Amino acid sequence: MAGQAAFVREFLRERAMILINGRLRGDPLALLHLDEGRIDPYPLYERIRAAGPLTLTRLGVFTTADHAVCDQVLRDRRFGVGGRVVDDTAELSFLEMNPPDHTRLRRFAAPTFGPRAIAGFDGTITAVVRRLLDRLPTGRPFDLVADFAAPMPIAVITELLGIPDADAEEFSRYGTVFGSALGGLQSLRHVGQLMEAKQQLARIFTRLFDLKRAEPGDDVISRLVAAEGDKVRPEEMVPLCTLLLIAGFETTVNLIGNTTLALLKHPEAWHRVAADPDLAAAAIEETLRYDAPVQRTGRGAMEDVEIAGRIVRKGEYVVTLLGGANRDPKVFDRPARFDLDRPNANDHLGFSSGIHYCVGAPLAKLEARIAIQEITQRFGNLAMIKPGVRRPGSLIRGLSSFPVVGYPILARA
Ligand code: HEM
Repeated sequence: MAGQAAFVREFLRERAMILINGRLRGDPLALLHLDEGRIDPYPLYERIRAAGPLTLTRLGVFTTADHAVCDQVLRDRRFGVGGRVVDDTAELSFLEMNPPDHTRLRRFAAPTFGPRAIAGFDGTITAVVRRLLDRLPTGRPFDLVADFAAPMPIAVITELLGIPDADAEEFSRYGTVFGSALGGLQSLRHVGQLMEAKQQLARIFTRLFDLKRAEPGDDVISRLVAAEGDKVRPEEMVPLCTLLLIAGFETTVNLIGNTTLALLKHPEAWHRVAADPDLAAAAIEETLRYDAPVQRTGRGAMEDVEIAGRIVRKGEYVVTLLGGANRDPKVFDRPARFDLDRPNANDHLGFSSGIHYCVGAPLAKLEARIAIQEITQRFGNLAMIKPGVRRPGSLIRGLSSFPVVGYPILARA
């Protein structure tokens, strides 16, 4: 109870700081947390970039939209996770740990999501994608996010973890609430929902551990219960599963949504991908740069560090604007342009950098590639019928509703 009260107090203090410094003082980092940043963060990144490679903001934290500085902070072992001032959400296992605990848990999880393990997953993903596409109407409106991009990664990660069909709906419900907090908590009601979802997820995961101990299968949770002990401590089991579940829920949906949106806004690119499905991989890589689903992260200095000509003192925090770094003109030629032929698109920081580089990157790219290939093949002609609705929060960037209508035949000019 005391923990919950402190959580609520901290949440209210952060919201007040953001409102005062954003609305009254025009601080661009504070504005990023408000509607301005949610709708279009890119002009704010340019303001931050223009102020220098590393600047101290009115929120009391440093920030950077410089590609080299972001990369340096994320790779420098003198910086660590923890001590976040804003965007605090919930325990997310090794994403929020430093070595040696980070190394131990990441070593356990990484092989499951490595390129080799994931390659065998092609068929399952294609089957899930086709099943969802088969339910979509032709020539009548549907919601690309709710009816396709959201359920797809949920179905895939549920299968990978070994969650039985009977429990999938419950996991999906609580996982979605929990995942929505990744983008930053929106209200006190949201805080309450998160606490409830956290308890419910712990309850159903614990029941699932018992089930897998009795009847192990060829899945991540069975491997986890077998590794319980020195490799994974009992109290680490629920947060680890929650991280894997949520990371799969709330990010890939936006990669699929943002790629589709960028392609629809650039019809010649859409038609190129529809004509040559091999180009889907380039569209996804360019979207990870041009409109990344995870827009920022951050690190705290564990000792005094000199960086970009400034001293970041021990305990101070740097917000690394991944979405801003991805538009750094020192690295990307004409960065505001969506370009399928960009030679260095994959220098983006959309999956972060350093020791926390996204474990699920190969899975996310595979899911998104198959989704984009199948949708462009199914609907050679897809059109947005009214403006989509942006998700709440600006850390995770994407649409929560994306109304479209699709026809199988390519449009003729
Ligand atoms: C488009 C989809 C995705 C994007 C944009 C994305 C992005 C990211 C980013 C930016 C980080 C690092 C955060 C930081 O440095 O503080 C991260 C970490 C992580 N991601 Fe992803 N992710 C995606 C999909 C996935 C999927 C499908 C999984 C698999 C379950 C996953 C699992 C993880 C895990 C476990 C970490 C923590 C890694 C660590 O701390 O060592 N992600 N992701």
